Amino acid sequence: MRTKLTPIEIVLNHFLMSIKERKKVVEKKEIIMGTFEMKRIYIKVASEYYSRENRDFTIDENNQNYLNLLCKYFSRDIEFETIHRGELRKGLLVIGNPGTGKSSSFKIIQMISKIYGLKSLWFPIVETKKVVEKFNVEKNKDSIIENYSIGTFCFDDLGSENEANNIHVWGSKEDIFIRILENRYDEFIAKNTKTFITTNLSLIQIEKRYGSRVRDRFVSMFNLIELNGTSRRF
Ligand SMILES: Nc1ncnc2c1ncn2[C@@H]1O[C@H](COP(=O)(O)OP(=O)(O)OP(=O)(O)O)[C@@H](O)[C@H]1O
Ligand SMILES: [Mg+2]
Repeated sequence: MRTKLTPIEIVLNHFLMSIKERKKVVEKKEIIMGTFEMKRIYIKVASEYYSRENRDFTIDENNQNYLNLLCKYFSRDIEFETIHRGELRKGLLVIGNPGTGKSSSFKIIQMISKIYGLKSLWFPIVETKKVVEKFNVEKNKDSIIENYSIGTFCFDDLGSENEANNIHVWGSKEDIFIRILENRYDEFIAKNTKTFITTNLSLIQIEKRYGSRVRDRFVSMFNLIELNGTSRRF
């Protein structure tokens, strides 16, 4: 058996190792952006985002706790668990009155991911009513359910969607988010798939609309965070 490497093999190994090392550094860079850095970037991107609507980005007593948690969560800060008693492996269920800043906060995280090329932060955002609209016009209805059952997603405004039309199969209306969310719970258990949700519904209202099975699953798949205050719309 040949044990000694030729000079070319040594150079090649060295080169390959350095690629691996470099990859590690890049991966690490994605993961180790600290909360301080995340907050700095969040403020920068949020200021740009809201200025497009002719607004100043406001941090006040109603949203400071929420924004602090959001930045800690997305920078995977262990304090999210130790101080705030959350769990980084779970998704986020953000509950709050209309207009408090839920949807825009996820759009800002999505923008940060895009601008800074942070793939690990990336998730698509889809309004729940758009999912129902797609379902209603699609012939292969199961493909819609499957599509939204796998991979990370942010479902915006859960509860604002109508019941879907599934006349051909069930002969009636159907709340398709019951199926999607139950599937996503299975994906969360099997693969740790994350779901982010914004909603105006309380947990009691979620149970009323989607049933006790969904509500029960929500407890184990989400960190529930409330965004306080009244509407910032004007
Ligand atoms: N921190 C903030 N500073 C300035 N403007 C804000 C802030 N948060 C939200 N807004 C503005 O308030 C309005 C409502 O924000 P957003 O759509 O994010 O609220 P929401 O909680 O998703 O509301 P809804 O529950 O009705 O969907 C938007 O015009 C947004 O630009
Ligand atoms: Mg919204």
